[in-house]
Amino acid sequence: MAEKDQHYLTTDSGIPAPDNTNSLTVGYPGPTLLEDFHLVEKLAHFNRERIPERIVHAKGAGAHGYFELTHDQSAYTKAAFLNGVGKKTPLFIRFSTVGGEKGSADSARDPRGFAIKFYTEEGNYDLVGNNTPVFFLRDAIKFPDFIHTQKRNPQTNAKDPDAFWDFLSLTPEALHQVTILFSSRGTPKTYRHMDGFGSHTFKWINAEGKAVWVKYHFKTAAGIENWTNEEATYMAGANPDFATLDLFNHIESGNEAVWNAFVQIMPIEDASNYRFDPFDVTKVWSHKDYPLIPIGRLVLNRNPENYFAEVEQAAFAPTNIVPGIGFSPDKMLQGRIFAYPDAHRYRVGTNYEHLPINRPLVPVNNYRRDGAMRFDGNGGASSNYEPNTTGGPKAAPEFYQGDHQDTFSGTASRHSYELTDNDFQQPGDLYRLMSAEEKTHLVNNLVGHLSNVKNKATVERQLKHFYRADSEFGQRIATGLGLEVTA
Ligand code: HEM
Repeated sequence: MAEKDQHYLTTDSGIPAPDNTNSLTVGYPGPTLLEDFHLVEKLAHFNRERIPERIVHAKGAGAHGYFELTHDQSAYTKAAFLNGVGKKTPLFIRFSTVGGEKGSADSARDPRGFAIKFYTEEGNYDLVGNNTPVFFLRDAIKFPDFIHTQKRNPQTNAKDPDAFWDFLSLTPEALHQVTILFSSRGTPKTYRHMDGFGSHTFKWINAEGKAVWVKYHFKTAAGIENWTNEEATYMAGANPDFATLDLFNHIESGNEAVWNAFVQIMPIEDASNYRFDPFDVTKVWSHKDYPLIPIGRLVLNRNPENYFAEVEQAAFAPTNIVPGIGFSPDKMLQGRIFAYPDAHRYRVGTNYEHLPINRPLVPVNNYRRDGAMRFDGNGGASSNYEPNTTGGPKAAPEFYQGDHQDTFSGTASRHSYELTDNDFQQPGDLYRLMSAEEKTHLVNNLVGHLSNVKNKATVERQLKHFYRADSEFGQRIATGLGLEVTA
């Protein structure tokens, strides 16, 4: 039935609304009647406007664009969107802060999320990274505890510097990311003026079945720009949505936001001999050992029409990989493969992948049916089981690429990362690489934050970590706090 060309106000059932100003009452003055279903529907729908915000990365902004392949990668991966110079793949990127709520300030000292959904010709590929090449932890089992310490105290409902540093001082593997977080890179000026990273090690597999390990880097064409601590604090009050509006206004004025994309490639056989575990996400691979190889450009050029539909309901999952791309045994990545689709089913609903922002460009053929808010044809009259003789879709063995997992074997046990390196070398190297001004910002930012900690033992424990990374680094923070530090 064709929709009538009508522009009057209706209920969600299409019933004309005769009045949107006065609710139905018995007399004047008089009580409101429950049979005013226009009023009841309006109030009831309003009460249900919010879905749960993301448990982390709740505040964010997103835009549409494309990925352009400038260097063919078929030698390393058969992923179609990485084969054929000049190929353009539509994408959607959501940037975010991590710890704050949906209404929190964009300028907070925090990592920034850098989540990309590539709508490829072989299904959606999600690369859900940050603006930092490393992370605080290297085992998924620690993540909920860590996040609890970055959120609000269960009694005061305020941020809790004691919990924050208590956990971190007992988790030396976090030191590398902590050093980045308290440098100027912890307060990027906008989402356009920061780099992005896939952070984890992933696998690429070419058409011959040969695999390599890979890390992704996205370098902003606009150049890195950061707030100082004072500027970030000011902006949190003066314009908490500064980065959100910067991205929107930049694109709305007809400009593009651009990142140049690179990868580091490690031959599979190098992994077991490298000087540290290359799957440990608290560490970077040396660019001297594995130089950056250019692959293409990320371009953002279109704003969402509707924030809720496109940004809030967007569901990114490291789980979504396309043929030619594989996982690595990084224990954080392995945990994330479960965590994200689980979060989406809870936050958005079972059929979240049918929503326009999450739907792939390619047809979806399977036997999953029903569930709350199944709003498409639900498979119509076609068979809802397999195997069948009714011509339904069948699995495609030509896409099997699991052979590469067979390189792993051993006892089922709670293995810890084998520490062939330590947690202090790379943070120390990072400190030593910084300019005098950057070092001063870093030290001052740490002194400022640590001075809010009430428990002196916590501070002393954390000071030892900084000192082990670099004695000058530790000493300067201790001096700033009026404390002594011993190795
Ligand atoms: C969002 C879990 C580590 C980047 C989320 C969400 C969960 C989560 C549950 C909310 C998803 C949603 O409601 O849509 C975890 C767990 C981790 C982990 C369990 C460790 C085991 C990481 C790491 C990175 C990262 C290492 C980056 C390298 C992100 C980003 C988002 C996010 C960018 C926001 C995605 C968006 O814009 O919608 N994470 N996370 N997470 N996480 Fe993680």
